[in-house]
Amino acid sequence: MIKINENYLKLQASYLFSDISKRVTAFQDANPDKKIIRLGIGDVTRALPQACTDAFHKAVDEMADESTFRGYGPEQGYDFLREVIAKEDFQSRGADISADEIFISDGAKCDCGNIQEIFSTDISVAIPDPVYPVYLDTNVMAGRTGEFTDGKYQDVTYLDCTKENGFLPSLPTEKADLIYLCFPNNPTGTTISKEELKTWVDYAKANKSIILFDAAYEAFVNDETLPRSIYEIEGAKEVAIEFRSFSKTAGFTGTRCAFAVVPKELMAYDTNGDKHSVHALWNRRHSTKFNGVSYPVQRAAEAVYSPEGKKQVAELITYYMKNAALIRKEIADLGYDLIGGDNSPYIWIDGKTDSWEFFDLLLNKTGVVCTPGAGFGKCGNGYIRISAFNSYENVVEAMARIKDAL
Ligand code: MLT
Repeated sequence: MIKINENYLKLQASYLFSDISKRVTAFQDANPDKKIIRLGIGDVTRALPQACTDAFHKAVDEMADESTFRGYGPEQGYDFLREVIAKEDFQSRGADISADEIFISDGAKCDCGNIQEIFSTDISVAIPDPVYPVYLDTNVMAGRTGEFTDGKYQDVTYLDCTKENGFLPSLPTEKADLIYLCFPNNPTGTTISKEELKTWVDYAKANKSIILFDAAYEAFVNDETLPRSIYEIEGAKEVAIEFRSFSKTAGFTGTRCAFAVVPKELMAYDTNGDKHSVHALWNRRHSTKFNGVSYPVQRAAEAVYSPEGKKQVAELITYYMKNAALIRKEIADLGYDLIGGDNSPYIWIDGKTDSWEFFDLLLNKTGVVCTPGAGFGKCGNGYIRISAFNSYENVVEAMARIKDAL
C-alpha cells in the first residue's frame, strides 16, 4: 500500500495566496462588472526593463542559430551572470563574495523552500511570526514540527514580531540551529540596522547555527545606512546563506531568475560533530535536482547590471516606491497605525479588527485586494498587508475607494 508523507496532513488547508485567489475569483464571478484592484500578492505589473528584453531577444536569436545554440548549461548558472552578481551586488559593497559561491535558480521561493533539505530533521528551527509562509510550511513538510494548535506549530521557536518590539525579532532564548530572517521584511516592511543584524551573526557563531537570510527586497532599501546583504556584517560568511531574486527588483516574477549565496566558509556538522561544507552539500543537491535557468533568462538577468539596466531598474523601484508613499500617506490619514513602505514595497497596517474580516470588507466594499495578516502567522492577526505593486493610477483609485468606504 502506497503511503503518504503524513507531515503534509499537518499543513493548513491551502497556501495563503491560493486561498486569497479563490476568494477574489468568487467575488469577481459574483460581480463581473466590478474592476478589482490587486494590492495583495506582491506581483509586479510593469514591463521588464528594455535592457533585459533586448538581451532576452538577442539570446533567443542565438538559440535559433546552430552555431550559437546552447543545450544544458551549468546547473549553478553561467559564469557571465555569477561574476557580474558577485562584483555588483557584493564586492562593490565591501562583501567578499566570489562568483562560485553564487547558485543561480528559478526563484527565491524555491531556494528558501529547498535549502532546509540539506539539514537534519531533528534540528531546532526559529521562524519569525508573522512570516513568509514558505519557511514554515517547508519545515512542516520535512517533519520538523509537531501539530498545529492554537495558531502555532509545536516544536518551532517562534520569534514574535509585534508593535511592542517594533516588529523586530529578538534573539531566541532557547538554542536555535536554523534561523530564518527576512529584511526588508515580508510581510511587515521592517528593516534591520547593521548593529542589530550583527547580534544575530554573533548568536549564530556562538551557537554553531545557520541564518537563512532572505534579501529578496533589498533593492527597495532607500536608507544607505541599512545593510542590503548580511555579508556586509563581519563574520556573516561563516554563518549565513543569502537569498536574492530578480522578481521584485527587475520585474522577473513571470520570467523566473534568482540566486542563493552559499559561502565556502559555511560549515554544518554530522552526529559525530565533524564539520562539512554546506557549499558542497548544496552544490550536490542543486546539480542532482536542478538543470539550470534557461540561457535567455540568464542573459536578461545579466542585463540588469548594464548601465542602461541599472538606470531602468532604478526607475522601476522609484515607480513602486511612489505608490508605497501614497499608500502610507492615505492610510495614515485615515487614522490607521502602519509600518513599512519606506524601504520596502509592503505596508503593514493595524486594521483594528480580525484580518480576514478586514480583507472581506475591503474586497466587498471597494474591490481592493489586500493580504490578511493572519495568513502570515498568529501575530499577524489584526493586520493587513498592502502591496505597492500595481500602476500608480490603480493605487490612486484604490486609495480613493478605501477613503470613501472606511
Ligand atoms: C508575497 O506577496 O509575499 C510574494 O509575492 C510571494 C512570493 O514572492 O512568492
